[in-house]
Amino acid sequence: MSENGSATANIGVIGLAVMGSNLARNLASREGNTVAVYNRSRERTDLLVSEHPEAGFVPSTTIEEFAASLSKPRTAIIMVQAGAGTDAVIDQLTKAFEPGDIIVDGGNALFTDTIRREKAVRETGINFVGAGISGGEEGALKGPSIMPGGSVEAYKTLGPILESIAAVVDGVPCVTHIGTDGAGHFVKMIHNGIEYADMQLIAEAYDLLRNVAGHEPAAIADVFEVWNSGDLESYLIEITAEVLRQTDAKTGKPLVDVILDEAGSKGTGVWTVQNALDLGVPVGGIAEAVFARAVSSHPEQRTAVQATITSRPEVQDAGDSFEDDVRAALYASKVVAYAQGFDAIIAGAAKYDWKIDKGAVATIWRGGCIIRAQFLNRIVEAYANDASIPSLLVDPYFANAVKEGEAAWRRVVSTAALSGIPIPGFGAALSYYDSLASKRLPAALVQGQRDFFGAHTYKRVDEPGVFHTLWSGDRTEIATEGSSH
Ligand code: 6PG
Repeated sequence: MSENGSATANIGVIGLAVMGSNLARNLASREGNTVAVYNRSRERTDLLVSEHPEAGFVPSTTIEEFAASLSKPRTAIIMVQAGAGTDAVIDQLTKAFEPGDIIVDGGNALFTDTIRREKAVRETGINFVGAGISGGEEGALKGPSIMPGGSVEAYKTLGPILESIAAVVDGVPCVTHIGTDGAGHFVKMIHNGIEYADMQLIAEAYDLLRNVAGHEPAAIADVFEVWNSGDLESYLIEITAEVLRQTDAKTGKPLVDVILDEAGSKGTGVWTVQNALDLGVPVGGIAEAVFARAVSSHPEQRTAVQATITSRPEVQDAGDSFEDDVRAALYASKVVAYAQGFDAIIAGAAKYDWKIDKGAVATIWRGGCIIRAQFLNRIVEAYANDASIPSLLVDPYFANAVKEGEAAWRRVVSTAALSGIPIPGFGAALSYYDSLASKRLPAALVQGQRDFFGAHTYKRVDEPGVFHTLWSGDRTEIATEGSSH
């Protein structure tokens, strides 16, 4: 029972740091929710309860008391640091809960951990749901985008509760049952990878406007503000203008100029790339964003290379169309990054036997999450037109958008290269597009090289079968299997 002796709460939150506290406050603010709260240190629980008496929280000191304060099917959302801490709380809850109850992990857990946890907890008859929650601290309080996995059964109880707190776009809550076991955390991982790519592309656009066009941060903020009223509208574009407009109180300089240019990462984007590699899915936009953060975080290597350089290229004349060219290049590169992200979702669903509705994922990413943007509506439409398209780049709207921006995209990439401005995101995206667009790729030569040094064989364009050339012998070609030789 709770401290007042009755099971009155329909939902509980464990872990009351900022994200957990904000989620609990969001839950409590919604009609029909009574929220049980528990934190390992009771002080934090008392602080939340005292700061928000209007929330009507049901506090507990022990996990057992917390469980007893929940009406059945008991439903608790764990909001603790991903990793061992999550496992410890799951163990405690599994002992205190009963079959039919629901344990939700709302942290940024690695989806393979969630698959393992869901299987283990399910054996006790208790439901385990890994739910990606995106939108940061503000999103948790005002309305996140929520990506729950787990069983359909659990979602029957959990869904309405999550829908009561999620962001809403065009009357549609930004939450859907993504798929079974780890599907929710997998899709959240892809969200974070796309987030990294989106942020990197915006940063490259800023770098070009700063160092080729010669604009000051405040002027670039104006440019981003204009872009935010068009098809590049997004939360990330919006906050970029805010960051660029910020003046450092201490020096009076633009804040962006006093921030050390070494990017950190909690690692979710790294997981995206690692898993895309395992899935055989090219996610160059996301990978280059991850590597760009790594390059920036090796100052000693950067300094050493700089010491060997006596001159850098002269910055090219930007030209009158440069600003709009950068906008077009940013949009085209963004299309590529999202296309790659959704390719990874398709491949993950196939490997882990999830039935993921890509349109539904794009729909719940329209609001609440870090990549929220009008752009997601275009992806919803693309998959509504044809959910089986082999790439978002094949969708007529996106194919046309890239074609319209292609010349500008190429001008920007070449100007950047000639000016010595690093554009790993723009460049990788353009090369990915050109790789898909090329009728013949130099992979033919790679096959020849592999066959030369490793007898790894190759196929021919003009007949079925697998072949090997006797490179160290008379260099005749032999059929190795299934050919008509
Ligand atoms: C979100 C964010 C969030 C992200 C942190 C850390 O969806 O709210 O993606 O989950 O993990 O902001 O991001 P970094 O990986 O860049 O440190």
